Amino acid sequence: MKISILGTGNMGAGLAGALAAAGHEVALGARDPAKAAALATKIGAGAVGGGIAAAAALSDVIVLALPFGAMAETLSEAGDLTGKVLIDISNPISADFRDLVIGHTTSAAEEVQKQAPQARVVKAFNTVFAQVLPQEARTGAAVQVFVASDDAEAKATVAALATALGFAPVDAGPLTNSRFLEPVGAMNIHFGYFLGRGPVVAPAWVQV
Ligand SMILES: NC(=O)c1ccc[n+]([C@@H]2O[C@H](COP(=O)([O-])OP(=O)(O)OC[C@H]3O[C@@H](n4cnc5c(N)ncnc54)[C@H](OP(=O)(O)O)[C@@H]3O)[C@@H](O)[C@H]2O)c1
Repeated sequence: MKISILGTGNMGAGLAGALAAAGHEVALGARDPAKAAALATKIGAGAVGGGIAAAAALSDVIVLALPFGAMAETLSEAGDLTGKVLIDISNPISADFRDLVIGHTTSAAEEVQKQAPQARVVKAFNTVFAQVLPQEARTGAAVQVFVASDDAEAKATVAALATALGFAPVDAGPLTNSRFLEPVGAMNIHFGYFLGRGPVVAPAWVQV
């Protein structure tokens, strides 16, 4: 499958590498097209890189590997997103990583859906640290990826991608459940960075 990734930071690079390793075609987009092109060259496997609009135009599935604060600007630059699957991986956190900046009555994913009403937004991967994106970094139990969306087909597409990367997708219901997934992502950051576990932990919902 062809997948565009907007953002070339920890998550953008990690997902691009993992998706390319799983045999997917990756197109990277960044506000500095040269950065995306350089990362594409580093990844190899036919990956391409360029500007935001150019990368977004290449695929029907687009990962938003961006800080929540950069979403509106990037989406307005991305061009026509009608029918495209937008994967929102963000945790809308403060600069010191300690607090959520929105929640309760909305979520980052719902705000993205408002900013791109013609797109099919899926929340996923926000509880997975960049450090555990490479398959070889996961040697213990299967890491769960919670997938929330109002579009069943889009949700199935993202669940299949998670499976292809060796994760265990979990249907987390409608997009409004991002209000609950984003605090889980924030708690994961606290475990990883403030409670001493390191960025190699992940939450799991278990059947008891
Ligand atoms: N890191 C993790 O382990 C992790 C885990 C789960 C979820 N997340 C979420 O994933 C998202 C990305 O995190 P990250 O760790 O990959 O961040 P990062 O390493 O800081 O990378 C952020 C990327 O966004 C781009 N960007 C920032 N502001 C922008 C703007 N105004 N317009 C266009 N592009 C902009 C940056 O481009 P430049 O290089 O040009 O600055 C960079 O490519 C965040 O929402 C985060 O909450 C992260």
